[in-house]
Amino acid sequence: MIVTIDGPAGSGKSSTARAVAERLKIQFLDSGALYRVATLLYIDSGKSEPLFFERLEKSTISFHFQEKIFHVFLDGEEVTDKIRTMEVSEHVSEVASRKEVRAFVNALMREAVKKDVYVADGRDLGTAVFPDADLKFFMVADLETRARRRFDELKEKGMEADLDSIKQNIEVRDQKDSSRSEDPLKKADDAILIDTSKLTFEEQLTKIADQVSDLVHNK
Ligand code: DC
Repeated sequence: MIVTIDGPAGSGKSSTARAVAERLKIQFLDSGALYRVATLLYIDSGKSEPLFFERLEKSTISFHFQEKIFHVFLDGEEVTDKIRTMEVSEHVSEVASRKEVRAFVNALMREAVKKDVYVADGRDLGTAVFPDADLKFFMVADLETRARRRFDELKEKGMEADLDSIKQNIEVRDQKDSSRSEDPLKKADDAILIDTSKLTFEEQLTKIADQVSDLVHNK
């Protein structure tokens, strides 16, 4: 069973999906993290496309959700923290716009969700990856709120952060993610729209968790 939560960067989808999974004891899948791992490989390949695609084909990306953390591994090495740097953020939209990369990540995700109940967050999960998802949400929030959330998140992890560059990065990514030809960021017609700009975290969590809980218990 799969529940999808799509939306732009900083809309709260990832933290909400994670908390829903925690609360309901189901699995969580962070699709953005998988695009970030591919981006790490791109940077590591000297940003040379032929080499990157060669390495991507041979690489093994694995993941699991444990104690509130979505752990990701590239060829056996844990890269959970390495994928959150500004360098990765700056290149991820460009890497994620390549159809070879999308096919690779989509195959990984479709295989993973066969076995369990999942809540997954991303940009195109309800439209392109899991069009038949059991329940779909689309979360939005204004730019100011989203930049502030990313800033607080990085600070909390003790990482360097500058509010203006984060805002700029989010704006550029929104533009790229929504306008790309391959599976752009878009609300699915049957997704439930949730604007989190004025909601507390607990409010947005309850809104979604209650509906997922009904679904899980009625199946
Ligand atoms: O959720 P995030 O900010 O970690 O995602 C990083 C990037 O990955 C985002 O800018 C666009 C891309 N992405 C995507 O293209 N499709 C998805 N389903 C998830 C993320």
